[in-house]
Amino acid sequence: MNFKAGESAGKLRGGYYTPPSVASFLARWVMARKPRTILEPSVGDGAFLRAFQGLHPRIQFTGIELDEEEAVKVRKTAEGNGFQAEILQGNFLAWALESAERYDAVVGNPPYVRFQYLAEEDRALAERVFERHHLAFTRHANAWVPFVIASVAKLSPGGRLAMVIPSEVLHVLHAAPVRTFLMSECRRVLIIDPRELLFEGTLQGTVLLMAERKSSGEGSEGVSIVPVAGSDFLAKDPEQLFERTTYVPADRGKWTKLLLSPVESEVFEGARSSVHRFQDMASVDLGILTGANAFFVVDQASVVRHHLSGFALPVLGRSGNCPGVIYDEALHRENEAKGLRTNLISFGKETVERLPKGAREYIALGESQKIHLRQKCRNRTPWYSIPSVYPTTIGMVKCSHDYHRLILNRAGACTTTTAYRVRIVDGSVSPARLVFSFLNSLTALATELLGRHYGGGVLELVPSEIERLPVPVIGSADCDLEVLDAKIKSGTRADVLLREQDEVILKAAGLTTRERTVIHEAWKRIRDRRHRRGDQGVSGES
Ligand SMILES: C[S@@+](CC[C@H](N)C(=O)[O-])C[C@H]1O[C@@H](n2cnc3c(N)ncnc32)[C@H](O)[C@@H]1O
Repeated sequence: MNFKAGESAGKLRGGYYTPPSVASFLARWVMARKPRTILEPSVGDGAFLRAFQGLHPRIQFTGIELDEEEAVKVRKTAEGNGFQAEILQGNFLAWALESAERYDAVVGNPPYVRFQYLAEEDRALAERVFERHHLAFTRHANAWVPFVIASVAKLSPGGRLAMVIPSEVLHVLHAAPVRTFLMSECRRVLIIDPRELLFEGTLQGTVLLMAERKSSGEGSEGVSIVPVAGSDFLAKDPEQLFERTTYVPADRGKWTKLLLSPVESEVFEGARSSVHRFQDMASVDLGILTGANAFFVVDQASVVRHHLSGFALPVLGRSGNCPGVIYDEALHRENEAKGLRTNLISFGKETVERLPKGAREYIALGESQKIHLRQKCRNRTPWYSIPSVYPTTIGMVKCSHDYHRLILNRAGACTTTTAYRVRIVDGSVSPARLVFSFLNSLTALATELLGRHYGGGVLELVPSEIERLPVPVIGSADCDLEVLDAKIKSGTRADVLLREQDEVILKAAGLTTRERTVIHEAWKRIRDRRHRRGDQGVSGES
């Protein structure tokens, strides 16, 4: 968890500035429509203002900036250039809610600040923006979300919006209102999806949003996502990019599926509809919420030291404790010998007086450390009684780097909240078959399209998303889980492993060689997109 106090002032203000080449690209696109009025909701150090100055447009530029120092600096930049610019110091959201003005273009790079870091006043303003536009408010909405909504609303009919926004717009739930609003208000929405990171010093992935507001009577043509590599695209004509792409209808659901080409989409949809869904075979529940893992999940030495062996259950804490797809007694003992936290201390509902001395002392130790006052602990009686303690035959770690995998739990280990508990609901499918079949490029591609990721590129899935995954289950004769486990443990590369699995699983599901290749390559490309790094970034300004 990130704490507000640990964050830099710049980060809390959302102060990452746009590279000049990116600002210039977006400014050129906006200028192709010869706007008379341009609004920039958060001018920062004036990257966009400078981009327009370079184009010598006859425009009236209105900029707003929260930070007084920045606002003063930008005013100076604007002066003496024959450029009509008015720079207001203030809060854009408050201003947008009051002003009835509309603009031919809105440009910029909104602040990216998590809702939890926003001041109460900013949260209230965000909520009012959602209300104003009849959008469902969520307390998870990052600052950029109401910014983009209010910016779209400031466009005149036919006006253009050009912004640098987080790539999360494609998939996070809290961006659904932005997706909805863009679809209802705009004729065409182009998202340029750079392979490299635009900003140095942050893992924040960003995209360029170029949207044109509907004129009266116009409908929506949809969305287009154009992937680009390197910075060459910045030298091209943005208008041509906007005009020559194919727009497809979209809704408030995740736009990650638009990352597939029409051919990939057709093969994926065909394959997906012909195989089982995860929920036909199994259900997914959260892992055990202890309320204080450091106290309840301990190594073997602590169990011995505190005489807790009567209350210790095996636990599979982290993905590193199980590198393959089988968690058995031998691996558990290995982890124990390495000093990993392999025990869950579960006292049940027994009152303290009825517990043996070791347990009583350990509980007293917890109280001396104020563990009983932690939120989850203080809301249960007794505080040390962890609810819902049971293992399942299959576990699954929530987050993955390359691909998600199921783990066959032969050790009867419990899982904490870093992992899910998977229960078979169709008795005709054995746990081993499901674990084996889960690893293939079709299922992996679906995880990329359904899941979410943030800076750093780790993919996360929630139970409802896992239950919707397509999983082609193969016969038990073809499923050698031991061999698969050994391959993963020996470090077989993800793409090699999935290719080999596809030859068994997707082939048995009836996919042709071409279809298997299309699915695998699509998975690889979208996985690589998630892993993108800033090493050849556009910010290098080549
Ligand atoms: C990501 S920076 C972008 C700056 C500039 N638009 C650019 O592209 O380089 C975001 C800017 O938004 C400003 N800001 C944050 N909250 C704001 C608000 N509520 N109203 C106006 N500006 C705000 C920050 O001070 C920061 O300068």
